[in-house]
Amino acid sequence: MKLPDPYLHNPDEQRIDAPLGRWNLYIGGARRHVPGYVNLDILATPGVDVLADAHELPFPDDVFQRVECDAVLEHVYMPQRVMREIERVLAPGGFAHVVTPFCHPFHEYPKDYRRFTPDGLASMAGGLKVVKTGWRTGPAATWILFTMEFAKMLLPWRWWRILAHGVLGLLLWPLRYLDPWLMNSPHAARLGNHCYVWLQKPKTGR
Ligand SMILES: C[S@@+](CC[C@H](N)C(=O)[O-])C[C@H]1O[C@@H](n2cnc3c(N)ncnc32)[C@H](O)[C@@H]1O
Repeated sequence: MKLPDPYLHNPDEQRIDAPLGRWNLYIGGARRHVPGYVNLDILATPGVDVLADAHELPFPDDVFQRVECDAVLEHVYMPQRVMREIERVLAPGGFAHVVTPFCHPFHEYPKDYRRFTPDGLASMAGGLKVVKTGWRTGPAATWILFTMEFAKMLLPWRWWRILAHGVLGLLLWPLRYLDPWLMNSPHAARLGNHCYVWLQKPKTGR
C-alpha cells in the first residue's frame, strides 16, 4: 500500500515560479531517472547522464535554466566550491534549488562531512540572489529517522537491522504526515530534517 505523499516534502512551502528551461541540471541523481534534467553524479548507475565531480562541472558558463542539488552538499569536500560551480553554469535569470539535511543520521555517499541550516545555505549564495529559504521536512521526519537508527544500532546482525528498518519504517512513516502541522510551530526548526534555499542568478550575469 502506498499512501499519497503530497505533504511529505512540504511542496506548497517550497514552490516558486521557476520553470524548467531547455537545459536543466540535476546534481547527484545516482540510481534515479530525472526527466527534463541532465543527471550528473560521481557514481555510474542507470539514469546518470554525466559522470563527473560537482567540484568541477564539465559544462560552459551560463547554460542551465534550473539546477537541482538535493542532499549532495553534505557529501562534498568543498561545498562553497560546488556552489560557485552552480553559480557559474546557471543561465542569467536561472534558478538553483539546493536542499540539505540539518537533523539527519550519518550517511555516507561516499562520505558525510557536515550539516546545514537555512541561514548556512543562504550564506553560500555568493553572487546569486536568495529568493527563499525554508524547511522541506520537519520534526516528525527527524524523530522517525533517529528512532529507526537507534533501534538498528542495538541490533548485532545486519539482517536484523534490515528487518528492523523495514518494519519500523512501515509502522512509523505515516507519522510524517504530522510535519505540515508541526511546522506551524515557531520551534519546529530546532528539529527540522531537511532545509532548502532557492537562488536566482541576476539577469545581467555575474
Ligand atoms: C544522498 S544522495 C542524493 C540522492 C538524490 N539527490 C535524492 O535526493 O534522492 C547523494 C548523491 O550525491 C552524489 N555525490 C556525492 N559526492 C558527489 C560529487 N562530488 N559530485 C557529484 N555527485 C556527488 C552521490 O553519489 C549520491 O548519488
